[in-house]
Amino acid sequence: MSAAAANTGDFVKACALGDLEEDTPRRVEIEGVPISVVRTGGEVFAVHDICSHANVSLSEGEVEDCMIECWLHGSMFDLRTGQPSGPPASRPIPVYPVKIEGDGPGAAVLVSVTQES
Ligand code: FES
Repeated sequence: MSAAAANTGDFVKACALGDLEEDTPRRVEIEGVPISVVRTGGEVFAVHDICSHANVSLSEGEVEDCMIECWLHGSMFDLRTGQPSGPPASRPIPVYPVKIEGDGPGAAVLVSVTQES
């Protein structure tokens, strides 16, 4: 595979849109990468599921105002940018592009883990 091909970003089905409850993160694994998929405010986001502060699954935390909270120490990460709102986490988490294919609850939620946005 050429370097150019590796950078095109392959979208992989993470789940169906109907599998996502509003503001309830769903953990999936794509190509060995743990991802938290979140539907909130009519949009779907995909972020790395592990907190940048310690090895904690963010999908076990709560979502509010387009932020996902790490339940262990309370840092919140912006689902659009991955930036933490404050300590103890100081580094952002990766955010991955999402595409929705199809209509209704059966629509496919596709995530590319080869591109971080
Ligand atoms: S483990 Fe997430 S803020 Fe500490």
